[in-house]
Amino acid sequence: MHMPRMDSLDVLEDTLIGIDRDGNIASILSPQASDYRQTLQTAEQNGILHQMTSRQLMIPGLVDLHVHAPQWPQLGMALHLPLQDWLERYTFPLEARYHDLEFARQVYPSLVRTLLANGTTTAMYFATIHEDATELLAATCLDLGQRAYIGRVAMDDAGQCPDYYRDIDAHAAISASERSIHAIRRLNGNNAALVKPVITPRFIPSCTNELLAGLGELSAKHDCHVQTHCSESDWEHDFVLQRLGKSDTQALSDFGLLTRHTVLAHSNFISDTDMSMIRESGGGIAHCPLSNSYFANSVFPLRRALQKSLRVGLGTDIAGGHSASMLHSCQQAVAVSRLLETGVDTRIGADQRGSSGARINFLEAFHLATAGGADVLDSPTGSFEIGRQFDAVLVELDKPANPLDEFRHAANWEDLLCCVIHHAQPCNIDSVWVAGRCVSSFSTD
Ligand code: GUN
Ligand code: FE
Repeated sequence: MHMPRMDSLDVLEDTLIGIDRDGNIASILSPQASDYRQTLQTAEQNGILHQMTSRQLMIPGLVDLHVHAPQWPQLGMALHLPLQDWLERYTFPLEARYHDLEFARQVYPSLVRTLLANGTTTAMYFATIHEDATELLAATCLDLGQRAYIGRVAMDDAGQCPDYYRDIDAHAAISASERSIHAIRRLNGNNAALVKPVITPRFIPSCTNELLAGLGELSAKHDCHVQTHCSESDWEHDFVLQRLGKSDTQALSDFGLLTRHTVLAHSNFISDTDMSMIRESGGGIAHCPLSNSYFANSVFPLRRALQKSLRVGLGTDIAGGHSASMLHSCQQAVAVSRLLETGVDTRIGADQRGSSGARINFLEAFHLATAGGADVLDSPTGSFEIGRQFDAVLVELDKPANPLDEFRHAANWEDLLCCVIHHAQPCNIDSVWVAGRCVSSFSTD
């Protein structure tokens, strides 16, 4: 099952998907194809047929557009705090610990394995300010076979960042980010660029103008992805308006940081003008519905963004979000869109309470978590089509530990997919492939 387009679920029943040595989908044969039987037989005789049972279904690998790798040890902690307090009291002290590579070695493999076991075949990561630990994260993803976009975090504003955790100055930060780009591109075994570097100003409040301008130049020089937090909360959005007299989007654009390769996390407070600017740049948005519920004071205007043809995918925002599962992100994206549509304060009349037409449905959320996220990254993944890389998740419906009894009552494919989105657990995620390579397997874990 896959959704190359947002408006329809496509089911490839009893279909043969042929994968070449580089992990590309080389052929897709329906049972009606003239060479179906012959291809099936040959594959079987050569011992290269992987046959699914009638209790399994396959979906494209999930794409998580926003993960803070170093925050894994604080998953689900202190989310009662406002964003600034959470950063100061929990997040910065934790992230500072990654100057110790041994600590990074304890955390990063566990995170990447867990994401793979949850079906996340592509992740876009913020690392920390440390070059060594950032490279270790990249090497870990490469080693474990996860497709990854990884950024050394740049943050140099002494007024906003603690002394114990910041770049010394803009110049040092730019140099470190440039070295990190080279280190990731040159990693042993990264010839196919399974892991890619990302220029990562944490967010405008933590960076000086000099740093932001320098990183903009770096992105042009190295034709590199960019990621940052954009207009996330009242505090953050207003802080940038006060400091620069313009929105995050406008400022990022002026610093050369808004390009086709930019992923803006959150973007809850973007105006229609901001949306047009993002649309023209070709940049994309990582919608992080779970984390927004804690830190954002708002719900991302997803429907408005989609109507303006913005490219959008979903992110867990670990650990601003407390779940490693992109299926949870799908659930939450739908739930918050419903609250946005109806409004929530019952003292206000129903006709004035909400934002009409804001809801999305589960299939749309599933599209965003797969093909939508892949599109934001211009990654040839996210659906089963010839020429794309085979990144896939095999779901076992009938697992004794979680038998998904509901699926037996599903009246059609859409109901079945909804059942998976809501009830599948890691034990139901039987196998995960990235670029044709099996990188996670529940039974052998
Ligand atoms: N803004 C700046 N840093 C962060 C972070 O680590 N998480 C979230 N959610 N927002 C941020
Ligand atoms: Fe974040």
